[in-house]
Amino acid sequence: MWLLLAVIAVSLAAAVRFCLYKPLPAAIRQQWKLWLLDDIIKTVIRLARVMEWLGLGHHITASRNTSKRLEGTVKKLTAGPDAGYLAVSDVVFDGVPVRIYQPQTEGEGQLRRGLLYIHGGGWAYGSPRDGAYDQGSRKMSKELDMVVVSVDYRLYPESRFPTPYLDCLAAAKHFLSPEVLAEYGVDPQRVAVSGDSAGGNLSAAIAQEIAMDDSMSVKFSVQALIYPVLQALDFNTPSYQQNRDMVILNRSAMVQFWLQYLGADLSLKSHFFANQHSSNVAPDLMARLDWTTLLHPKHRNDYLPVRGKGPRRMERILDEVPGLLDVRAAPLLAEPEVLAKCPRAYIMTCEHDVLRDDGLMYARRLSDAGVAVKAENYLDGFHACFSLTMWPFAFDVGVRAFADYVRWLRDNL
Ligand SMILES: *[C@@H]1O[C@H](CO)[C@@H](O)[C@H](O)[C@H]1NC(C)=O
Ligand SMILES: *[C@@H]1O[C@H](CO)[C@@H](O)[C@H](O)[C@H]1NC(C)=O
Ligand SMILES: *[C@@H]1O[C@H](CO)[C@@H](O)[C@H](O)[C@H]1NC(C)=O
Repeated sequence: MWLLLAVIAVSLAAAVRFCLYKPLPAAIRQQWKLWLLDDIIKTVIRLARVMEWLGLGHHITASRNTSKRLEGTVKKLTAGPDAGYLAVSDVVFDGVPVRIYQPQTEGEGQLRRGLLYIHGGGWAYGSPRDGAYDQGSRKMSKELDMVVVSVDYRLYPESRFPTPYLDCLAAAKHFLSPEVLAEYGVDPQRVAVSGDSAGGNLSAAIAQEIAMDDSMSVKFSVQALIYPVLQALDFNTPSYQQNRDMVILNRSAMVQFWLQYLGADLSLKSHFFANQHSSNVAPDLMARLDWTTLLHPKHRNDYLPVRGKGPRRMERILDEVPGLLDVRAAPLLAEPEVLAKCPRAYIMTCEHDVLRDDGLMYARRLSDAGVAVKAENYLDGFHACFSLTMWPFAFDVGVRAFADYVRWLRDNL
């Protein structure tokens, strides 16, 4: 019954799509599959809004519940993960639930690589147990003979900034303590922090915090950021302008995630589209995300910066939403001295993603601060592709990006 309704709803969405067809950028392959995935996501969100309207709970909770059921159905249709090689356990690190993946190979007593993974989902969705994240962690653990700790931090609407940040920081500090690393057989010289999208934001922020913390004897040796979210002051970078209406993640959805995370008034969204919220930010701070100097001309293209003055209320928005200037939320705003202490970085971005320039500018600023950076921009990439490597939604670019990430970690961790 439930499945039938879902099929009808997705078909309707697909029919609407067919009538209002707008082609995706030509570089993107397997477009029909991407459209279908986007239709499913939009349908789930629409149904969830109806449920909220009917008084059945918050739409984000409802979307999460529906996705879980959909995923359960897909799982029944596919073979389960092969578990034999890995021990997977759910434990608590300093009050924060985490899922740990430990290879069960020969070589007792031999130290392994370790990686703290922070999932994405706009600080509102996602969990280490979700199919794509769970499978991704299993693959990383297996291919790199590595202990993976995936953090189940608290999400919106139950929590907002700085709770997710503090959860991830607590889990990171616990993992990096010499006793815990020893317990899991992890080499203190080879521990990475990594995450995608909102998880890339949290990873970058935590890498900065730990790098600056003199009380930590063990630090992360590398950071690997997958299309990270790094700033909320300019929603008109060339990539925001170019990909404003892209599938999977558009500008409106990204701004909404930010406002939710920072506890801002959602009705102000249109002012944020016009960058009216940053009209009073000090020029030296704005320079840290000035894409007219930080981006390569091929990415600047012919786009023009957008600066706007809004109504009175927008002049005081920085007092109302202090998170906008908080480096724990916007790592791109960090001072050069902080960046200089950060670990070597791998930064993956996608050409057709609103977040592309956040990642490219961070790569440039880290590199200017003297940090070794490998930046990889996928010309046929789109947001979320890194997690789309399995049936029924496997994409060539996702498979390639995942393999490149594993290769970089093998060589650098
Ligand atoms: C989602 O699932 C939880 C746990 O099963 C349930 O308590 C909650 O009412 C559900 N919420 C919605 C909006 O469906
Ligand atoms: C942006 O994405 C959201 C969430 O997927 C969707 O509800 C909305 O219609 C999209 N907006 C545009 C202009 O496509
Ligand atoms: C992560 O996002 C928050 C909220 O915008 C921001 O204040 C913080 O600076 C970001 N962190 C990084 C490392 O970009």
